[in-house]
Amino acid sequence: MQNGIGHSHAKIILMGEHAVVYHQPAIVLPISSIKLQATIVPNAQQEIQSSFYSGSLASASDSPFAGIALLLRQLLTYFDAKAQGFKLTIESELPPERGMGSSAATAIAVIRAVYAAFGAELSQTTLLNWASVSENVIHGNPSGLDAATTGANSPLWFVKGQLPRPMHMPTNGGLIIADTGVSGQTGVAVAEVAQRIQADADLAALIPAIGNQVRQAAVCLAQDDLNQLGQLMTQTHLQLARLGVSSEKLDQFVQTANQAGALGSKLTGSGLGGCMIALVNDQASGQRVDEALQQIGARQTWQHWFKEDMN
Ligand code: MEV
Repeated sequence: MQNGIGHSHAKIILMGEHAVVYHQPAIVLPISSIKLQATIVPNAQQEIQSSFYSGSLASASDSPFAGIALLLRQLLTYFDAKAQGFKLTIESELPPERGMGSSAATAIAVIRAVYAAFGAELSQTTLLNWASVSENVIHGNPSGLDAATTGANSPLWFVKGQLPRPMHMPTNGGLIIADTGVSGQTGVAVAEVAQRIQADADLAALIPAIGNQVRQAAVCLAQDDLNQLGQLMTQTHLQLARLGVSSEKLDQFVQTANQAGALGSKLTGSGLGGCMIALVNDQASGQRVDEALQQIGARQTWQHWFKEDMN
């Protein structure tokens, strides 16, 4: 084993969270400006250092790092290096449990770092297969979307179980991303939605309805129709709220952003807390929406411009 470094980044879901678990499509964007790095160096002890967890690999099994610890143990078995010591360091700009893909981004960077440490080739399919080891532990029934996006270079059209397709983004406009400062656990949100749609046929009908809005959103993106896209985003937010995954704070953020000039807004990710996104036409309106969200207590905001996705 030699020193190995792996990178990944945040993700946001433009449209389609939750419905994607039930094989509806989703549109997802890598946010490459919000970065995560994993570094693995040969060392006497199996030691991990991150903002989630610091300590030995053995005791990580009982921590929020349990999924990553299991992944790491399986990777070491695969490389026949179980007895080998290492130090793993995770440096992350992603706030955890805010719908930005922190756990998947950690898995992606760790897998890349371990493969680099053993000098092995890593295909995209193998990367995503490995990431499902920890994502299954953390999320129970993940669509695989978080891992696909935190390791991707371009916006994606994502359908569970299929190869994601790169997507065209408009040349204008962008998103203001705002963190409510409240944790939202994906596993909990996904399980709650499952219970609700099983118990109520009207709520179950929202899943294909959200899927249809995602398909319409793809047409808007292809035609640079930001006004219609914004309306679809707000409609999807209202449906996610009916599914029980919004919160008072998320609803307030959506309302504030729309009043400040956003074309539409919604929660992003699993909800219950976490982040919201607001669609804006240009930098001037983006700045107004950003300031309005900060004024009502956004923990942190980010600006993401679609032209950055063209790189
Ligand atoms: C989590 O980022 C998105 C969800 O749709 C769950 C999943 O796709 O696995 C809520």
